Amino acid sequence: MDVLVFVLQSILCLLTLPLHLLALLGFWQPIWRKYFPYLMAVLSRKTNQKIEGKKRNLFSQIKKLTGASGKVTLLELGCGTGANFEFYPAGCRVTCLDPNPHFEKFLTESMAKNKHLQYEKFLVAPGEDMSQVADESMDVVVCTLVLCTVQSPRKVLQEIQRVLRPGGIFFFWEHVAEPLGSWALLWQEVVEPTWKHIGDGCYLTRETWKELERAKFSDLQLEWQPSLIKWLPVGPHIMGMAVK
Ligand SMILES: C[S@@+](CC[C@H](N)C(=O)[O-])C[C@H]1O[C@@H](n2cnc3c(N)ncnc32)[C@H](O)[C@@H]1O
Repeated sequence: MDVLVFVLQSILCLLTLPLHLLALLGFWQPIWRKYFPYLMAVLSRKTNQKIEGKKRNLFSQIKKLTGASGKVTLLELGCGTGANFEFYPAGCRVTCLDPNPHFEKFLTESMAKNKHLQYEKFLVAPGEDMSQVADESMDVVVCTLVLCTVQSPRKVLQEIQRVLRPGGIFFFWEHVAEPLGSWALLWQEVVEPTWKHIGDGCYLTRETWKELERAKFSDLQLEWQPSLIKWLPVGPHIMGMAVK
């Protein structure tokens, strides 16, 4: 299997050599980071149409966290274009965080469309270092399609636990590796080195559910979902919530 993966990976890398050379020389990422938000704006609309019911159901749980003030402090980590805003209940005070500043224009448009929410600020930072967010200051943290991309899922989960108040909830929806030994996983392994450049650093073969289990939340509820777009090597998804 390993030899087959290596041979197929090498063929694909040769076929996409200009892309790999641009990335190696450091030219690809700055250019692609500028245009990636345009791709995400289209993809988020399409995925939201497919998953609308599930997201609505998941984020309806946020209402339970409303305190005496009637407000919920919510941190959206790797917020992208703000694809989840429409699903949050009224009264959420939303802080957005993303290392890519080029998302701001799209965020502003999403905020204008979702006037039921109160926007606090947009922080340009990676999830691995959220030092701008105070300890135990958030009732809710949300991450959708982000843990596949971050440098260190473990550090990000540690940061999430730091900023969540006791009893606060982390909501997630992530794509993960196909089952061990499957042809689908082999295909993910073949495509991954090239995919990473197009997907802004996205890993296809992450076993994110294992990181979530290791993170030792007090409660972890997780649902497996089939791949949304069959012709893409994106794999199955996990959706759920973890309580601090
Ligand atoms: C595939 S997009 C998903 C965007 C949005 N959450 C959604 O569901 O449409 C991945 C997002 O993660 C962000 N990201 C990449 N590396 C990150 C990191 N280390 N910490 C936090 N966010 C990161 C990207 O800039 C991008 O906005």
